[in-house]
Amino acid sequence: MSYFSAVDIITTKRDDGVLSDDAITWVLDAYVRGDLAEEQMSALLMAIFFNGLSERELNTWTDRMIESGERLELGNLTRPTVDKHSTGGVGDKISLILAPLVAACGAAVPQLSGRGLGHTGGTLDKLESIPGWRAFLSNDEIREQLDSVGAVICAAGQGLAPVDRKLYSLRDVTATVASIPLIASSIMSKKIAEGTHALVLDVKVGRGAFIKNLEQARELASTMVGLGVSHGVATVAQLTSMDAPLGRAIGNALEVTESVDVLQGKGPSDVRELTLALARIMVELVGLDVDPETKLDDGSGYEVYERMIRAQGGDPDATLPIASCREEVVSVEDGVVHSIDALEVGIAAWRLGAGRARKEDPVSAAAGVVCLIREGDAIIKGQPMFELHADDETHLQQGRDAIANAVVVGERPVNTEALLLERITN
Ligand code: URA
Repeated sequence: MSYFSAVDIITTKRDDGVLSDDAITWVLDAYVRGDLAEEQMSALLMAIFFNGLSERELNTWTDRMIESGERLELGNLTRPTVDKHSTGGVGDKISLILAPLVAACGAAVPQLSGRGLGHTGGTLDKLESIPGWRAFLSNDEIREQLDSVGAVICAAGQGLAPVDRKLYSLRDVTATVASIPLIASSIMSKKIAEGTHALVLDVKVGRGAFIKNLEQARELASTMVGLGVSHGVATVAQLTSMDAPLGRAIGNALEVTESVDVLQGKGPSDVRELTLALARIMVELVGLDVDPETKLDDGSGYEVYERMIRAQGGDPDATLPIASCREEVVSVEDGVVHSIDALEVGIAAWRLGAGRARKEDPVSAAAGVVCLIREGDAIIKGQPMFELHADDETHLQQGRDAIANAVVVGERPVNTEALLLERITN
């Protein structure tokens, strides 16, 4: 490998030039080894933030991120593998329902997940509200459970695309998170290293999502689909609305309960609709001729859920933590619910204790919000709109303040927005 000058690489990108494969390989490898100064990588990230990466540059950048660590080898499983990634939303508990449901259809679902940060929740935090449940599995345990149960939801090991952690921390403090090539390579390097054969991406758009407009969501989705396909992973993206919270429950144990409701044929219709839409794409991607709705309705999805939780030490029948402080928030007027702001509800759940500000902060299992209204509902003064759950009065007060302006009530009926927006394929 030739030697490159970090300053030349930064200059090329700053001036909107194209980096060679060797230059990208050199710069990322040097960064992994600790031979590139943080300020040089910061400058390069900012140049990428402004000038982007070409398709070829992005492929090479992603390859080097994958090669910075190990790959989970899933080739010997008896079932086809398919996974889902969501770009993060409020009340997004779909993985808890989807992974066992798609396993009940005959696929293996390796969901290597993360924790919540800020107003969006994390799948592991939700499942950790189940007594005894274990997030950390070895690679052998993951493979074994995929064979025996068909679904695993566990912590992504430190070995998958480890440079991403370093780059992400740097992006966080250099205002370079919101860059499409950097987000796409970050997400897809981990999914490709995970070894899944197929992938559905749930790209959230709207007030409660990290991407607020449809144009940008389309660009992110097609960039990630392109990366997946060029790395041999059959990938489809579904754009979905995240203007209002998904379902009624926001908060760790509250979302587990709602997921179990959906797996038992109850629960909110939007959660069921999105789960089935993603499940249909997943079974189609791996060529299984099964309608996931039949597996939801005949209880097979729930059966796999119980086995998946037990396999990781959890008790699916255990009583989940319950908040000691609860309070209803009522409407101050009559009218029609025009909007429920997912971001404000997500922040309220976070303030109540369900989320964390820093990676190392603890979360409350019991805290959160239950939405008692939907957009388009008629409402009268004094009618409860939300139920707030917290472990103490201080958190309850913070949640109450944060949710105060989350609902807009109008006089006229409104048309509610569709949940499923667009599908992006290669
Ligand atoms: N999630 C990731 O894993 N990486 C990003 O850059 C953004 C969201």
